[in-house]
Amino acid sequence: MPEKIEATDHGPVHYEPEPATLVRREAFTDGDSVFAFELQERDTLGHLPGQFVQLFIPGVGEAPFSVSSSPTDEGPFELCIREVGKVTNAIHDLEVGDTVGIRGPFGEVCDIETFADNDVLFIAGGIGLAPLRSMINYVLAHRDWFDDVTVLYGCKEPAEMLYPAEVRQWEQSDIIDFRMTVDGVPEGQTWDGNVGVITTLIPGLNLDPENTYTVVCGPPVMFQFVQQELDEKEIPHEQIYLSLERRMHCGVGLCGHCQINDLYVCQDGPVFNYEVIKNRPEALS
Ligand SMILES: Cc1cc2nc3c(=O)[nH]c(=O)nc-3n(C[C@H](O)[C@H](O)[C@H](O)COP(=O)(O)OP(=O)(O)OC[C@H]3O[C@@H](n4cnc5c(N)ncnc54)[C@H](O)[C@@H]3O)c2cc1C
Ligand code: FES
Repeated sequence: MPEKIEATDHGPVHYEPEPATLVRREAFTDGDSVFAFELQERDTLGHLPGQFVQLFIPGVGEAPFSVSSSPTDEGPFELCIREVGKVTNAIHDLEVGDTVGIRGPFGEVCDIETFADNDVLFIAGGIGLAPLRSMINYVLAHRDWFDDVTVLYGCKEPAEMLYPAEVRQWEQSDIIDFRMTVDGVPEGQTWDGNVGVITTLIPGLNLDPENTYTVVCGPPVMFQFVQQELDEKEIPHEQIYLSLERRMHCGVGLCGHCQINDLYVCQDGPVFNYEVIKNRPEALS
């Protein structure tokens, strides 16, 4: 069993945002960009794969974002952010050199080390690739710990692909089985890969259910259909993890905004074992 990665202990809960500088940004699509930040007062964020931070824009507000870079990556940490409203619009207006506030890292995640000596299956839909990318790259950085590693990635159309350069590397890599699909191909776009929703990729997988750990992240509607296919493959529920999103305020288990029954997504998640949440219908709606 590999040594378990530990989050850096930064002392008491962070209520005060720490200053961070935007050092790089790159647009993937019209509304999705990656933003790389450096903390001004410490060297590394010290996150675990799957954890999130709260990003604060003075005068606008704060929102949670998964860290999309792996703790094994050198340099600044990355957030891949879709523009949907007030805070995310303001983030997309940032210029390199601007300062934002960061709280975190926050959240309970799965111990990827417990997947060692087993097969790992990642299933990412849309912006769900952002949180999974930190786990995928963590697994690839420790490739010899794991048996087969498979990544399924689906987005609405070819032009919505995130991390296109890295996706092409994964496609060509012989250390992972990477499979991608798009829901459709609008006129004017080209695509020679699979067309269909992400669940269409699952029946073709040759899985060893007792030895497969699965991590799923995507829009809530995706979960139930993916779960049906995973049930067809007889993957035990305690070997399936889901990364969930909820509206958040405090990020530290105080305000109750992210509550699902007795669970707080910010503290008990955002990565949950399916066995734990499957009988809480609110979790998957
Ligand atoms: C743990 C966690 C990790 C996340 N990671 C990422 C990430 O890596 N990249 C990314 O782009 N986004 C991520 N999100 C979602 C992100 O936090 C929201 O998009 C953001 O809060 C929207 O803020 P806003 O002020 O721009 O939008 P608002 O102006 O507040 O809202 C705009 C629209 O988006 C909807 N909305 C806002 N927040 C959410 C949410 N959490 N779930 C569903 N709908 C929402 C609103 O209902 C509204 O329709 C994550 C959320 C959580 C809880
Ligand atoms: S966001 Fe406040 S309790 Fe989770």
